[in-house]
Amino acid sequence: MIIVGCPSSAELAKNISRKVKGAKFSLLNSKKFPDGETRLRFEKNVKGEHIVLVQSLFNPNDKIIEILFAAHTAKDLGAKKVTLVAPYLSYMRQDIRFYANDCISAKVQGELFKVFDEVITIDPHLHRIHSLNKVFKKGIRLSANSLIADYIKHHLKNPLVIGPDAESYQWADKIAEELHSHAIVLKKKRYNSRHVAIKLKNNISLKGCEVAIVDDIISTGHTMMETVKEAKKHGASKVYCICVHGLFADDAITKLKKLGAHVISTNTVPNESSKIDVSGIIAKALSK
Ligand code: R5P
Repeated sequence: MIIVGCPSSAELAKNISRKVKGAKFSLLNSKKFPDGETRLRFEKNVKGEHIVLVQSLFNPNDKIIEILFAAHTAKDLGAKKVTLVAPYLSYMRQDIRFYANDCISAKVQGELFKVFDEVITIDPHLHRIHSLNKVFKKGIRLSANSLIADYIKHHLKNPLVIGPDAESYQWADKIAEELHSHAIVLKKKRYNSRHVAIKLKNNISLKGCEVAIVDDIISTGHTMMETVKEAKKHGASKVYCICVHGLFADDAITKLKKLGAHVISTNTVPNESSKIDVSGIIAKALSK
């Protein structure tokens, strides 16, 4: 097996390769021609090898071109199997036509990714598409729930887990269960991508609680910001915003910190909040 660190995830790929017995590590050589087109090259011979491309798909468009070109090239050069490890998998929230004539991007991406023999990802946003196998040749879904629960166990006193919306139930509930407690899941009304409303029932007191608001993705941060305000209004002593994938569009991390929240994410998207390492769970899946 050769674990190939693609540009967005070179460090993570290296850490994964250290944990997979017998795996070799290599970088994907990706450069730009003067006109902006991509030029790719493998640095090791791939013939007869199982090639694992590791590329997290935040700001995805250029990164998708890289992995598609790389996968086709690997097959062309005689690789025996090509796996994509996309710790953050793009476009999964675009799973229906929200407005007439919309592109269902999750499905189109699935068609393009049929070049991969398997796709491994962490906590994909599965809402109306219930299984990765519905869109990919073979999809393997890992979860950072236990890692997040472990972080909460070691860093928060008297923690209370909150899921900011109905879709976060799948994470909030599992994480709370590992902490031997129950999650509070709130209702969210989304008006547009930068405007949401979230309300915590008036009779709930969070006095003295250290609150962990958990979600799969922080994008613009508005879901978290509204939830932080509610948690503080109800007396929470400390508020942590914990997510798997910290996309932090519109400088969301600064805005959350200004509200006094502690912001924590895994390293599926590398940034200053990435305190939870997912290399171990990916290595374990590849070792199977
Ligand atoms: C949506 O259901 C997701 O689970 C997140 O809640 C959402 O993507 C967060 O987006 P934002 O940070 O822009 O509010």
